[in-house]
Amino acid sequence: MSTTAEAVENDADLDPREFDSEEFQHNPFDIYRRLRDHHPVYHDRFHNRWILSRYWDIDGAFQDSEGYDRAVYKPDGPYEFGTRHVFGPNILEYGNSSEHRRLRNIIAGQFIGQKLKDFLPMIDKISQEVIAKFFDAGEVEIVSQFSSQVPVRVVSNMLGLPREDEDMFVEWYHLLIAGLGFGSEHMEKALQARNDMWDYIDPMIRERTKNPGEDLMSRICVAELDGTRMSIEEVKGFIALLLAAGGDTTDKAIANMWYHMLYTRPDQLLEVIEEPALWDNVFTEMMRFDPVVHIQPRHTTREIPIHGHVIPERAQVILYLGAGNRDERVFADPDTFDVHRTDLHMGRENRSGRYKDGKPGHLGFGIGQHFCMGYALARQESAIACNRLMEAVKNVRPKFADHPGITSPSIDSGGFRAPEELWMEFDRK
Ligand code: HEM
Repeated sequence: MSTTAEAVENDADLDPREFDSEEFQHNPFDIYRRLRDHHPVYHDRFHNRWILSRYWDIDGAFQDSEGYDRAVYKPDGPYEFGTRHVFGPNILEYGNSSEHRRLRNIIAGQFIGQKLKDFLPMIDKISQEVIAKFFDAGEVEIVSQFSSQVPVRVVSNMLGLPREDEDMFVEWYHLLIAGLGFGSEHMEKALQARNDMWDYIDPMIRERTKNPGEDLMSRICVAELDGTRMSIEEVKGFIALLLAAGGDTTDKAIANMWYHMLYTRPDQLLEVIEEPALWDNVFTEMMRFDPVVHIQPRHTTREIPIHGHVIPERAQVILYLGAGNRDERVFADPDTFDVHRTDLHMGRENRSGRYKDGKPGHLGFGIGQHFCMGYALARQESAIACNRLMEAVKNVRPKFADHPGITSPSIDSGGFRAPEELWMEFDRK
């Protein structure tokens, strides 16, 4: 047990240095429970932030886009802002501004409905191509050989990049993702990869703006709202963002789904094998139980009175989605992974977080103004990839009896959670 953990004398005590510990990156759930039970509004002076951890408090913050802004800057305010963000200027940095609404309205429709359906056969094909590469081996390291291969190739194909350049795109992807706040050495390489990628797509953007095709890049280039299009920098920033927001998240989602089936609920894996439609429930319950993204940051725009505290104006507030999803005030037996859960809205999410079945949804895509734009794509893609793998093989089993579990490079920096490795053996059908 670490010194930090020893310093915690009873359940209610919290030492903010615990948030920086390796234990927390690995298993944050005990701290989450202590936060919910004893400190529903926790003022972490050590990290200069406030933390909300109960389900309905997080929902309330997501719904209140007047009181909680995502960014500190105001792109439509008096100052121009530059960025050294690894993606360049992108919608994530536009806070709750009118610029954000403009960009969102231009692109959100590209990932739902018929436009999404157009891409499904390609997701199918890519999944099968990736599976074919390891099929003969009778075993697969799911993270490096499967989950980190499918979504980025899907994004590359959606954008309509030439297939012969796909491996280069996959390489940029890994460099960009490594640069997301985990050390300056990675950051330099990530910025180089971003610049290389931008140089590569620059002529394509210009060409497709003039002669658009059916691919996503063309659609983004010419999508209009009230007669305005995205600038070339915004298109580039959005494409870089797609790699992380659309590639890395779904990559981790697929790995987590297999982890839970192989290690957390092997009994339910047998049911999923019998009834593959249950992969959809595996996705939903994974997004509740231990979602890919555990936090979302916000800044208060005014004083927020809550649970007897007053969070001051311009304070940083961290919404612990992973903690809200385990709130025993909302979900019975929250620490059990169950694909048949009856107190969770199963199936597709929506921006309001309110469902006709009256059940609460998971918080893993956020709610409200910044609700994930790729919610439908991520769900479909994860289910298709998992289904294709399961159809191709039989007698799936973990290669090793023990597994160190799911972890994150840094929960508080928004580091995505997934197993580092996940070996599975199978027989060929
Ligand atoms: C399982 C996979 C995914 C997870 C866990 C996830 C998670 C999230 C979360 C939590 C947010 C809310 C941010 C906030 O409230 O501040 C978000 C926003 C966003 N997501 Fe996803 N996401 C996933 C897949 C995707 C995909 C496939 C795309 C590609 C289209 C995508 C694009 C975006 C974008 C563009 C935003 C920003 C929306 C805005 O600010 O209006 N995501 N995502």
